Amino acid sequence: MNRVDYLRISLIERCNFRCQYCMPEGAELDYVLRQELLTHEEIIILLKEVFIPLGFSKFRLTGGEPLLRPGIVDLVQDIASLSATEDLSMTTNGFLLSTFAEDLYKAGLKRINISLDSLNPETFKTIVGHKKADIWHKTWGGIQTAYEVGFNPLKLNIVVIPGVNESEIEDLAELSINKNWHIRFIEFMPIGNAELFSDRTWVPSEEIREKIKQKWGLIESNIKGNGPADVFKIPGAKGTLGFISQMSECFCDRCNRMRLSADGWLRPCLLNETGQINLKNLLRNNATTIDIKEKVAHLLALKPEINYKERESGNDTGIYNRTMSQIGG
Ligand code: GTP
Ligand code: 5AD
Ligand code: SF4
Repeated sequence: MNRVDYLRISLIERCNFRCQYCMPEGAELDYVLRQELLTHEEIIILLKEVFIPLGFSKFRLTGGEPLLRPGIVDLVQDIASLSATEDLSMTTNGFLLSTFAEDLYKAGLKRINISLDSLNPETFKTIVGHKKADIWHKTWGGIQTAYEVGFNPLKLNIVVIPGVNESEIEDLAELSINKNWHIRFIEFMPIGNAELFSDRTWVPSEEIREKIKQKWGLIESNIKGNGPADVFKIPGAKGTLGFISQMSECFCDRCNRMRLSADGWLRPCLLNETGQINLKNLLRNNATTIDIKEKVAHLLALKPEINYKERESGNDTGIYNRTMSQIGG
């Protein structure tokens, strides 16, 4: 059984973008109230007294958009300074990075994943559902600041959308040639948004690799991440190309993670809502962290049965009560 030592912590459900694939229309109406969010102190207690004793040492901060969370730099600092933290990272849309990158780096965040679905400002505006004219430039500026500050690895996430950014695959892959950037192509996952791209929903990684191979050639990279990406590179490139292929492949056998939602739900699998427990309610109802740890240990033991590979055996109901923006990807 794979070791589960990676926790993705969603800090806030709100986002300053409205990416079509992540936040279907109307989803923002259901934001959890501020008092329902796990507090800074509750997150630290859960890490120190529940997750770290159970062997977790890798933490990723997600959202919504994690940089909208008040006190984000202090929280990064407190998690980074826990002696058990081996890896602390963040997934952000990059819009606020020009403001935050340096403080985050100084606080102890050393690697970062940023969504960038297009190099074309107009296409970008359509995908992220934003009317502001300079939104792409501000995001691109945030990426450059993060790079200059020293984030390494710096990963760029691209959800490939048929007929929208599919034509940019080569241009986006090219970003990996001259800079040590890790460009990752992600197959669109229909979570609470299956009807979005109705004719053809996702582009298989194999098809994307073929396009890149035709132009530059492609070799397997010996760099392995912590996550689900298969890593390749263009010969001679400084950076790599990752492919996250949860629709065409199944990588659940190597799943090493759980997810904690902003309002305290611990979720054993991204693509399946089985087994969730609410740790915030337990804490606020005076459960001891010893009790909570036991419950989480129990859930960890059940995780292989809950994992999405069970889809063939009927575990997948296709019903998602939460959007990707609420789960944090
Ligand atoms: P690192 O490898 O630690 O850098 O992170 P990551 O690639 O797991 O994280 P990121 O937040 O950048 O996620 C990139 C894409 O991978 C998103 O579309 C996620 O939804 C997807 N993803 C991350 N973890 C899982 C997982 O456990 N299962 C599935 N099916 N998809 C995942
Ligand atoms: N399918 C695949 N990836 C998604 N992301 C958000 N929604 C989806 C989806 N429906 C990705 C974004 C972000 C990461 C956290 O999750 O690219 O970078
Ligand atoms: Fe893990 Fe579920 Fe993702 Fe499979 S689908 S890799 S079990 S989170």
